[in-house]
Amino acid sequence: ATGTEPELNSGGVRTPTRAAIAAPHLRTDRWWLAPATTAAGLLAFVVYSTWRAFANTDYYAAPYVSPFYSPCLAENCEPMRAGPNWEIFGGWWGLSPALLILIFPLGFRLTCYYYRKAYYRGFWASPPACAVAEPHKKYTGETRFPLILQNIHRYFFYAAILVAGILTYDTVLAFRDEHYEWGHMGLGTLVFLVNIVLIWAYTLSCHSCRHIVGGQLKHFSKHPVRYRMWQWVGKLNARHMLLAWASLVSVALADFYVYLVASGAFDDPRLF
Ligand code: FES
Repeated sequence: ATGTEPELNSGGVRTPTRAAIAAPHLRTDRWWLAPATTAAGLLAFVVYSTWRAFANTDYYAAPYVSPFYSPCLAENCEPMRAGPNWEIFGGWWGLSPALLILIFPLGFRLTCYYYRKAYYRGFWASPPACAVAEPHKKYTGETRFPLILQNIHRYFFYAAILVAGILTYDTVLAFRDEHYEWGHMGLGTLVFLVNIVLIWAYTLSCHSCRHIVGGQLKHFSKHPVRYRMWQWVGKLNARHMLLAWASLVSVALADFYVYLVASGAFDDPRLF
């Protein structure tokens, strides 16, 4: 840096130092399809999860507890709950208990490197797509408030590990029947199994995880175990976008399954 640069990309691609191209962009493909589909998918999840988080009902159907409501940290959880239930918040908490816990997985996904790209493009057109100039006059990246807060992603990763651990516990509890007898399996158990595998795969494929596992090393040869783990995480990391979507859909489906059973719309078929 010479110290004489203009403010960070203050004029976008229309600055005199850039090639003077009159056309808004030179792409001839349907470049808008990806951001439009992304925005529609994310919006659908936001609408669904907001409804379910505020509903405060039909989130438990023995032995299944909705991943949106686990762990339950308030006294007002359904009394028949048999999942993780720590009443840190007393009787004064009158809102949905999901609101107390969703902040962690939500914060994890909101600050995720992939989702950032997805919603910057889908909702803010910043930029809309590769080689399509953004409509905003000024670009400060993530150097200012509030976007500078995206840097706390690593801490949300730690919280996400805890949440994934609790959802794993819920999945183990799903190997019971409605009378809490062990050694049973319903269709819901399968739904929970698929969901927890995808949740772990997404969580471990995180860029922060990759850096925690293999970062700040001068010589991989001196750290063979971390090197091996870094390679595993790297393989998952290459599929981070796919895992982000798959786990988003699976967690919504797991919640919806519990909703259907709890509301009496559907009977959980026992597989054995
Ligand atoms: Fe996506 Fe960490 S980068 S979860």
